[in-house]
Amino acid sequence: MASDNSIDKPWAGRFTEATDAFVEAFTASVSFDKRLYRHDITGSIAHARMLAHVGVLREDECQAIVDGLQDILRDIERGDFTWSVALEDVHMNIETRLTERIGIAGKKLHTGRSRNDQVATDIRLYLRDEIDAITAELTRLMTALLDMAEREADAIMPGFTHLQVAQPVTFGHHMMAWFEMLLRDRARLRDCRQRVNVMPLGAAALAGTSYPIDRAYTAQLLGFDAAAENSLDAVSDRDFAIEFTASAALLMTHLSRCSEELILWASPQFGFVDLPDRFCTGSSIMPQKKNPDVPELVRGKTGRVTGNLIALLTLMKSQPLAYNKDNQEDKEPLFDTIDTVRGSLKVYAGMIPALQVKRDNMRQAALRGFSTATDLADYLVRRGVAFRNAHEIVGKAVRHGIETGKDLAQMTLEELRQFSVAIEQDVFEVLTLEGSVASRNHLGGTAPDQVRAAVARARGRV
Ligand code: ARG
Repeated sequence: MASDNSIDKPWAGRFTEATDAFVEAFTASVSFDKRLYRHDITGSIAHARMLAHVGVLREDECQAIVDGLQDILRDIERGDFTWSVALEDVHMNIETRLTERIGIAGKKLHTGRSRNDQVATDIRLYLRDEIDAITAELTRLMTALLDMAEREADAIMPGFTHLQVAQPVTFGHHMMAWFEMLLRDRARLRDCRQRVNVMPLGAAALAGTSYPIDRAYTAQLLGFDAAAENSLDAVSDRDFAIEFTASAALLMTHLSRCSEELILWASPQFGFVDLPDRFCTGSSIMPQKKNPDVPELVRGKTGRVTGNLIALLTLMKSQPLAYNKDNQEDKEPLFDTIDTVRGSLKVYAGMIPALQVKRDNMRQAALRGFSTATDLADYLVRRGVAFRNAHEIVGKAVRHGIETGKDLAQMTLEELRQFSVAIEQDVFEVLTLEGSVASRNHLGGTAPDQVRAAVARARGRV
């Protein structure tokens, strides 16, 4: 990026010497905030139109500004724009170029505005678009989970607590647990969007402006729900970015938990799923390896988003009103959060439909580990045994199973009756995995019918 210390800075009037070369580089943000160029131009065009609307700019001046900005936008998108570090940030780069192109009218664009309300507006416009892109990607992933849940509504797997086999569940039910987490994440993002979509423009540097501006007009042009009520607050707070990053950190935390499970399930010890080869890599030394890199990276990247949240909270915590240059540091954590979330969602939305579910292995794993022990206790309760006694009886049967290497369903009726004479032939119906999951047949339960019903309801919620 070009750095030319001799370039006149738009604010150079009161200065007597050029900026120190290192200070110039140290204070510049253009290397990263140039990403805001499109929203900066959109915001400037609306501002110019408003100024013309209230008679501060002549129509021909406004038209020259709008045309000039649109030409600059095309130049940037063609890669035909030289960004200058000496011009500090995206705002001054674009404004300076505009004046070079259209002359004196370009110098009028900044009337009634400051970079302080300009940058706050740009970030909000940009983040609003990103939230929409993220929620769309999230919806794609959620739909993939619903399809998987429907397809695997009756695939039995062991459910775990403490990562120990607990009770049989269905794979579809497990997918629907992931779905619910993501549905809440999307709701959080949508809620956050309402507070993002408020317009700072008009706050100017901090106190508002003496020009007869029409903020409602600009807000309407830019699709903001409202203009910010307080100018000091509008230029200084970045709570909307913090809120977004907090929602993103939770979303990543959820994806990280899914990743942890996929990594376990793809291991030969579990063997519950096969990740498609195109989502894995091999080892340079161990020829047999197929590594679950994608879920591992998503799990790893969760740390950066959590870190970004802490960075933004820390950035904000001691700032007095109104704008401080500290706020220039809001961008990199925010941009990194957006990139990380979008990348993770995209890769997940591609990977989930391609998962191969190994039903036999999951079923075998559920058969080991006495996963129907609770079902036996519930059976005894139905036969009049108090639950605590039933628990004790089943515990003894499990101990016998461990000693003899048999699961409950593999014992003979005589064997089982050593522990309670309330047990009869029909016990084997509840000791089967299918009987166990089918019996949990209520709203929120793991029975295949309930999973199908949950998927059907969820289709209406995506
Ligand atoms: N690059 C600055 C930022 O990101 C723009 C606002 C600069 N305002 C100022 N008074 N120096 O926050």
